[in-house]
Amino acid sequence: MKAALFHKYGGPKVVRVEEVPDPAPGPGEVRIAVRAAAMNHLDLWVRRGLPIDIAMPHIGGSDIAGVVDAVGPGAGHVPVGARVVVDPSLDYDWYDGSAPGRSLPSRELRIIGEHTPGGFADYAVVPAANLIEVPPDVPFEDAAAASLVGVTAWHAVVVRGRVRPGERVLVTGASGGVSTMAVQMARHAGAVVYAVTSGADNVARVRDLGADVVYDRLEVDYGRALWKDTDRQGVDLIVDSVGAATWKSNLRALRQSGRLVCYGATTGPVGETSLPLLFWKKASILGSTMGTPADYRRAMQLVFDGVVRAPIDEILPLERAREAHERLEAGEVFGKLVLKP
Ligand SMILES: NC(=O)c1ccc[n+]([C@@H]2O[C@H](COP(=O)([O-])OP(=O)(O)OC[C@H]3O[C@@H](n4cnc5c(N)ncnc54)[C@H](OP(=O)(O)O)[C@@H]3O)[C@@H](O)[C@H]2O)c1
Repeated sequence: MKAALFHKYGGPKVVRVEEVPDPAPGPGEVRIAVRAAAMNHLDLWVRRGLPIDIAMPHIGGSDIAGVVDAVGPGAGHVPVGARVVVDPSLDYDWYDGSAPGRSLPSRELRIIGEHTPGGFADYAVVPAANLIEVPPDVPFEDAAAASLVGVTAWHAVVVRGRVRPGERVLVTGASGGVSTMAVQMARHAGAVVYAVTSGADNVARVRDLGADVVYDRLEVDYGRALWKDTDRQGVDLIVDSVGAATWKSNLRALRQSGRLVCYGATTGPVGETSLPLLFWKKASILGSTMGTPADYRRAMQLVFDGVVRAPIDEILPLERAREAHERLEAGEVFGKLVLKP
């Protein structure tokens, strides 16, 4: 089969399309004929060489939608020909399930396309337990585009952020894959949504997604502008993955007893925290990563019901995988890039 892969870590140039043997499903696994596989920022981190142990060459791609093509032993309940999308989390239940006082889980969260081969190929092998069926009227491209970002946004906004109707919610990096979903989910929950993005085109697009107030970070200091626009009250909830570049402004933009949910650190892993701001505001800082299998289903149901969608910037043939890496790295993408084998 054809696959977009890399043999060593590095810049987008390490990505190439090669012929590799077709994979065969093992016990409890299925093989999917991939119809659409979307890019995430995660694919950039993995290609650059996150400190994890992965086998080379590595096929990326955590967002996989397609048709079940073969089933392994013990997966006979999955019909060949089923239209499916794949929950990218492996062992999330273990990772999320350790109750206080219990010993730490014995298995760690792993992600398809990061720790295991992913969907940037003609075929992908995944656990049967990770499949959910895609309704006939939902295109594979839409299902794949929404997959990892949908569950991440749901867990950050709803589970960790506990958004409530009428609250003010700020989403930073609003043109990003997860953020475009977070804007819509916060809006759907009845929040008043503030967002920060870059450039006039992105401002218009984020408004179209349902944000009430959108700041162009290239033009204004959003922390100050938001403080003024909220009568020096600030926002109840911030959902951020920009990291270092927004951390300080975010703490200032938070209202009394506000919650700051962090699920990423695109611009750097260290943020300066003013401790007096933290305790004076009685602020809560919460971490969030991916989501449970139940979260995944809830997020995808919102997509299937047409309540939220992952905006697709462009659909490219698999052969242009390197270009997809370059464009996402350059910050030129609104929402998602989808690759089609
Ligand atoms: N913990 C988890 O489970 C989890 C899951 C998914 C993603 N993540 C992490 O979350 C981050 C976002 O992921 P994604 O796939 O949504 O990424 P993405 O589509 O590449 O979006 C990243 C966005 O960050 C903003 N940004 C980039 N540089 C910036 C800067 N210097 N200052 C301010 N904003 C900047 C840009 O938005 P604007 O131009 O609109 O400002 C960009 O669109 C990544 O770091 C990813 O690894 C974590």
